[in-house]
Amino acid sequence: MIYSPLLKPDLLALFCHPQSHAPLALELGDLVTSNGERFPVEDGIPRLLPPQIPFRHRFWAWVYNQTAFAYDWGVAFAWGLKLGGQPIERRTYLEKIKLKPDALVLETAVGTGLNIQQLPAHARYVGLDISFAMLQRCQKNLAGWGREATLVQGDAQWLPFREGVFDAVYHMGGLQFLAEPQRALAEALRVTKPGGHIWMVDEAYSVPRLVRHARGMIPPRGTAPAQTGVEALSALVPPSADDIHAELISNGELYFLSFRKRF
Ligand SMILES: C[S@@+](CC[C@H](N)C(=O)[O-])C[C@H]1O[C@@H](n2cnc3c(N)ncnc32)[C@H](O)[C@@H]1O
Repeated sequence: MIYSPLLKPDLLALFCHPQSHAPLALELGDLVTSNGERFPVEDGIPRLLPPQIPFRHRFWAWVYNQTAFAYDWGVAFAWGLKLGGQPIERRTYLEKIKLKPDALVLETAVGTGLNIQQLPAHARYVGLDISFAMLQRCQKNLAGWGREATLVQGDAQWLPFREGVFDAVYHMGGLQFLAEPQRALAEALRVTKPGGHIWMVDEAYSVPRLVRHARGMIPPRGTAPAQTGVEALSALVPPSADDIHAELISNGELYFLSFRKRF
């Protein structure tokens, strides 16, 4: 059953090969490169995964494919209770995401679309996720909410979009699953227009793993102690970005990392 609108020609022009960034054309229902590499479109969702992805990514795609049917209920239960901690509320980060009317916005681990549900309908949304089952749930949710988004199966580390096409990019809850999170940040920056914002949010318990990644990227600073807190996440952001800011929010349950593409 197809719930979302079929690919519109203007949105089709956003896509490219996830690794070579070669242009794609629609041919017999598939997206095809000039040298014949084909990516199917199923239920109106282009399947633009790179030919090879890390085992860690395949594992989490499998987990979310198996559990997609219960995700909305599970997250409401887990975030509502947050055993031993404060409940997590989406509005604590969604209120920081400011979108201009008609902005073209990408969510890079869209899941079942629960952020789009609460974000303003005056923007246009593209949602990417590695799990096809999550995207199918997202289609159903969007139809139920009377909302629209273009959905794409892809990997946040190899975005299948041309450079500088989105007004803003945000990501909630998927960075902790990535083999090389800094690659996902660089990809988000690549596909954003100059001056556009990028917002990254995830659960704070995943900060130490990200900081370990970041440490490998921080140049030695003599005897200065290495940063270990949320501020160390800024080392994951490509140095070409502007206005880098990292903070803990939602009673310390989430981190919020924001930056901008330089003009
Ligand atoms: C905790 S859920 C968050 C979903 C949604 N953003 C939300 O706020 O409810 C994590 C999502 O990340 C997706 N994900 C995991 N690894 C990914 C990857 N390498 N690329 C894109 N999405 C990925 C999962 O399939 C899942 O939908």
